[in-house]
Amino acid sequence: MGSATDVQNLYNLVNRQSQAVLDYATAEGIAFIPWFPIATGDLAQPGSPVAEIAAEVGATPAQVALAWLLHISPVVLPIPGTTSLEHLTENLQAAKLTLSDDEVARLNALA
Ligand SMILES: NC(=O)c1ccc[n+]([C@@H]2O[C@H](COP(=O)([O-])OP(=O)(O)OC[C@H]3O[C@@H](n4cnc5c(N)ncnc54)[C@H](OP(=O)(O)O)[C@@H]3O)[C@@H](O)[C@H]2O)c1
Repeated sequence: MGSATDVQNLYNLVNRQSQAVLDYATAEGIAFIPWFPIATGDLAQPGSPVAEIAAEVGATPAQVALAWLLHISPVVLPIPGTTSLEHLTENLQAAKLTLSDDEVARLNALA
Protein backbone atom coordinates (compact mmCIF):
# COMPACT_ATOMS: atom_id res chain seq x y z
CA MET A 1 0.00 0.00 0.00
CA GLY A 2 1.37 3.39 -0.93
CA SER A 3 1.39 6.58 1.09
CA ALA A 4 0.69 10.16 0.08
CA THR A 5 2.04 13.39 1.48
CA ASP A 6 2.49 17.02 0.56
CA VAL A 7 4.01 20.19 1.92
CA GLN A 8 2.03 23.40 2.52
CA ASN A 9 4.34 26.32 3.22
CA LEU A 10 4.31 30.09 2.78
CA TYR A 11 6.00 30.73 -0.56
CA ASN A 12 5.71 33.33 -3.30
CA LEU A 13 7.86 35.55 -5.52
CA VAL A 14 8.73 37.92 -2.69
CA ASN A 15 8.94 35.40 0.16
CA ARG A 16 11.11 32.38 -0.57
CA GLN A 17 12.02 31.41 2.97
CA SER A 18 10.93 27.85 2.14
CA GLN A 19 13.17 27.57 -0.95
CA ALA A 20 15.20 24.69 0.54
CA VAL A 21 11.99 22.78 1.33
CA LEU A 22 10.71 23.36 -2.20
CA ASP A 23 14.02 22.16 -3.65
CA TYR A 24 13.76 18.98 -1.55
CA ALA A 25 10.11 18.46 -2.54
CA THR A 26 11.03 18.90 -6.21
CA ALA A 27 13.87 16.38 -5.96
CA GLU A 28 11.68 13.85 -4.17
CA GLY A 29 8.51 14.41 -6.23
CA ILE A 30 6.50 15.64 -3.24
CA ALA A 31 3.62 18.05 -3.90
CA PHE A 32 4.34 21.57 -2.60
CA ILE A 33 1.34 23.83 -2.01
CA PRO A 34 2.50 27.44 -1.61
CA TRP A 35 0.09 29.44 0.48
CA PHE A 36 -0.10 33.21 0.09
CA PRO A 37 0.89 32.56 -3.57
CA ILE A 38 0.18 36.18 -4.53
CA ALA A 39 1.34 37.58 -1.17
CA THR A 40 -2.22 38.08 0.15
CA GLY A 41 -2.98 40.17 -2.93
CA ASP A 42 0.07 42.45 -2.82
CA LEU A 43 1.54 40.89 -5.98
CA ALA A 44 -1.73 41.53 -7.83
CA GLN A 45 -1.66 45.27 -7.28
CA PRO A 46 -0.84 47.72 -10.11
CA GLY A 47 2.36 48.77 -8.30
CA SER A 48 3.41 45.17 -7.76
CA PRO A 49 7.04 44.20 -8.41
CA VAL A 50 5.77 42.07 -11.31
CA ALA A 51 3.68 44.82 -12.88
CA GLU A 52 6.30 45.78 -15.48
CA ILE A 53 6.79 42.23 -16.76
CA ALA A 54 3.03 41.68 -16.67
CA ALA A 55 2.52 44.65 -18.98
CA GLU A 56 5.21 43.35 -21.33
CA VAL A 57 3.65 39.89 -21.66
CA GLY A 58 0.07 41.16 -21.83
CA ALA A 59 -1.00 39.56 -18.56
CA THR A 60 -2.06 40.77 -15.15
CA PRO A 61 0.37 40.88 -12.21
CA ALA A 62 -1.57 38.08 -10.47
CA GLN A 63 -1.26 35.88 -13.56
CA VAL A 64 2.50 36.46 -13.75
CA ALA A 65 2.98 35.69 -10.04
CA LEU A 66 1.05 32.43 -10.49
CA ALA A 67 2.70 31.53 -13.81
CA TRP A 68 6.11 31.93 -12.17
CA LEU A 69 5.09 29.51 -9.40
CA LEU A 70 3.87 26.99 -11.96
CA HIS A 71 7.10 27.41 -13.95
CA ILE A 72 9.65 26.90 -11.18
CA SER A 73 8.76 23.32 -10.32
CA PRO A 74 6.34 20.63 -11.53
CA VAL A 75 5.42 19.81 -7.89
CA VAL A 76 4.09 23.32 -7.14
CA LEU A 77 0.29 23.59 -6.83
CA PRO A 78 -0.70 27.21 -6.08
CA ILE A 79 -3.99 27.82 -4.25
CA PRO A 80 -4.75 31.53 -4.69
CA GLY A 81 -7.58 32.69 -2.50
CA THR A 82 -10.30 34.92 -3.90
CA THR A 83 -13.84 36.03 -3.17
CA SER A 84 -14.27 37.16 -6.78
CA LEU A 85 -15.44 35.08 -9.73
CA GLU A 86 -13.65 37.54 -12.01
CA HIS A 87 -10.37 37.00 -10.18
CA LEU A 88 -10.89 33.23 -10.20
CA THR A 89 -11.28 33.29 -13.98
CA GLU A 90 -8.26 35.56 -14.32
CA ASN A 91 -6.13 33.38 -12.06
CA LEU A 92 -7.02 30.19 -13.93
CA GLN A 93 -5.64 31.75 -17.13
CA ALA A 94 -2.20 31.87 -15.49
CA ALA A 95 -1.80 28.18 -16.30
CA LYS A 96 -1.76 29.11 -20.01
CA LEU A 97 0.86 31.83 -19.66
CA THR A 98 4.32 30.80 -20.84
CA LEU A 99 7.23 32.80 -19.51
CA SER A 100 10.53 33.06 -21.42
CA ASP A 101 13.85 32.20 -19.80
CA ASP A 102 14.65 35.92 -19.69
CA GLU A 103 11.36 36.76 -17.99
CA VAL A 104 11.85 33.98 -15.44
CA ALA A 105 15.39 35.21 -14.73
CA ARG A 106 14.08 38.74 -14.13
CA LEU A 107 11.35 37.42 -11.85
CA ASN A 108 13.87 35.27 -9.97
CA ALA A 109 15.92 38.41 -9.36
CA LEU A 110 12.97 40.14 -7.63
CA ALA A 111 13.33 38.17 -4.40
N1 LIG B 1 -1.75 25.80 5.06
C1 LIG B 1 -1.70 26.94 5.75
O1 LIG B 1 -1.14 27.00 6.83
C2 LIG B 1 -2.33 28.18 5.18
C3 LIG B 1 -2.08 29.43 5.74
C4 LIG B 1 -2.62 30.56 5.15
C5 LIG B 1 -3.39 30.43 4.01
N2 LIG B 1 -3.64 29.20 3.50
C6 LIG B 1 -4.46 29.03 2.31
O2 LIG B 1 -3.77 29.57 1.22
C7 LIG B 1 -4.70 30.05 0.26
C8 LIG B 1 -4.31 31.41 -0.21
O3 LIG B 1 -4.20 32.31 0.90
P1 LIG B 1 -4.76 33.76 0.83
O4 LIG B 1 -6.03 33.75 0.08
O5 LIG B 1 -4.76 34.31 2.20
O6 LIG B 1 -3.58 34.57 0.04
P2 LIG B 1 -3.32 34.86 -1.52
O7 LIG B 1 -3.91 33.82 -2.38
O8 LIG B 1 -1.87 35.17 -1.66
O9 LIG B 1 -4.08 36.26 -1.74
C9 LIG B 1 -5.48 36.36 -1.71
C10 LIG B 1 -5.82 37.83 -1.90
O10 LIG B 1 -5.49 38.21 -3.22
C11 LIG B 1 -6.62 38.81 -3.85
N3 LIG B 1 -6.65 38.36 -5.24
C12 LIG B 1 -6.76 37.07 -5.69
N4 LIG B 1 -6.70 37.04 -7.03
C13 LIG B 1 -6.61 38.33 -7.43
C14 LIG B 1 -6.54 38.95 -8.71
N5 LIG B 1 -6.54 38.23 -9.83
N6 LIG B 1 -6.41 40.31 -8.75
C15 LIG B 1 -6.39 41.05 -7.64
N7 LIG B 1 -6.45 40.52 -6.38
C16 LIG B 1 -6.57 39.17 -6.30
C17 LIG B 1 -7.82 38.34 -3.09
O11 LIG B 1 -8.82 39.36 -3.12
P3 LIG B 1 -10.24 39.08 -3.83
O12 LIG B 1 -11.02 38.25 -2.86
O13 LIG B 1 -10.77 40.46 -4.02
O14 LIG B 1 -9.97 38.36 -5.10
C18 LIG B 1 -7.27 38.16 -1.67
O15 LIG B 1 -7.34 39.38 -0.95
C19 LIG B 1 -6.06 30.01 0.90
O16 LIG B 1 -6.78 28.93 0.33
C20 LIG B 1 -5.77 29.80 2.38
O17 LIG B 1 -6.76 29.04 3.03
C21 LIG B 1 -3.10 28.07 4.05
